[in-house]
Amino acid sequence: MNKDFLHVDDWTQDEILSVLDLSVEVKQKLKNREPYAPFKGHTLAMIFAKPSARTRVSFETGFYRLGGHSLYLGPAEIDVGTRESAKDVARVLSAYNDMIMARLFDHAHIIELARYASVPVINGLTDYNHPCQIMADILTIKEHFGRLEDLKIAYIGDGNNIVHSWLRMATRLPMHFVCACPVSYPPDQATFEIAKQASISTVEISNDPFGAARDADVVYTDVWASMGKKHELEERKRHFKGFTVTPQLMAASRPTAVFMHCLPAQRGLEVTDEVMESPASIVFQQAENRMHMQNAIMLKLAGKA
Ligand code: CP
Ligand code: NVA
Repeated sequence: MNKDFLHVDDWTQDEILSVLDLSVEVKQKLKNREPYAPFKGHTLAMIFAKPSARTRVSFETGFYRLGGHSLYLGPAEIDVGTRESAKDVARVLSAYNDMIMARLFDHAHIIELARYASVPVINGLTDYNHPCQIMADILTIKEHFGRLEDLKIAYIGDGNNIVHSWLRMATRLPMHFVCACPVSYPPDQATFEIAKQASISTVEISNDPFGAARDADVVYTDVWASMGKKHELEERKRHFKGFTVTPQLMAASRPTAVFMHCLPAQRGLEVTDEVMESPASIVFQQAENRMHMQNAIMLKLAGKA
């Protein structure tokens, strides 16, 4: 197994499936409040260059519940690439901590951080991808449908970091993945090509939300303007007209379809209130599973499972 977890396809299919099984096991242990402290005496350094609710709380709470202690390091403490280089931060934090989790802007910085750190580095989101999110999403999908095979996932919205992680997951697990985005907001072409050439999944880019939603088992969306792009929101609102996940769009999918969103959601923009609150919405199970999946990821990387 790789020392670090920076992209979902850093792992083979078998490794992904074994982490998935482990997340189910560890989730059950925590639900049962079983005494379990594999990270006793361990520390996790968490670097956040961007805001976060779920990632911060799920890592901090999860690591604590497994017996460890974590440190929140915001932009005032560590400003990778400005106050200090990624390679210096890597070696300093490796001297004090057993593991590093980082949420950064520039994807090149997390690669450099991992390269110079002697301890495992986990990607907690970059401008390019969000692997922990998509790992938690497959746990949620498996729990809901009882399987990962033969599912159509229709992503509606911005071709962003979430899409890149889905495309890379499509190189490991077979799926039908469609990204319906406005013409000028597609995902990274090279990542799309990698997913296509892996020939494991059917992957498509479309500009037609209703066509994409047809027969979908999962309708997934995310904010129209990601962190670092918030200033573009007004302009984006014009381009993303017709890309809101509405009850009508959900009706185009399968009757058994679920709605997913990595959150935070901007209700009224990429998704209506009604869809968020509908019985099809599994967004809060999805958010909870961040903690369980990340616990499994950390245990695997630490060689504790
Ligand atoms: N989904 C997610 O990563 O949420 P936060 O930005 O709140 O961490
Ligand atoms: N695409 C979003 C995901 C937030 C979890 C962003 O990068 O802001």
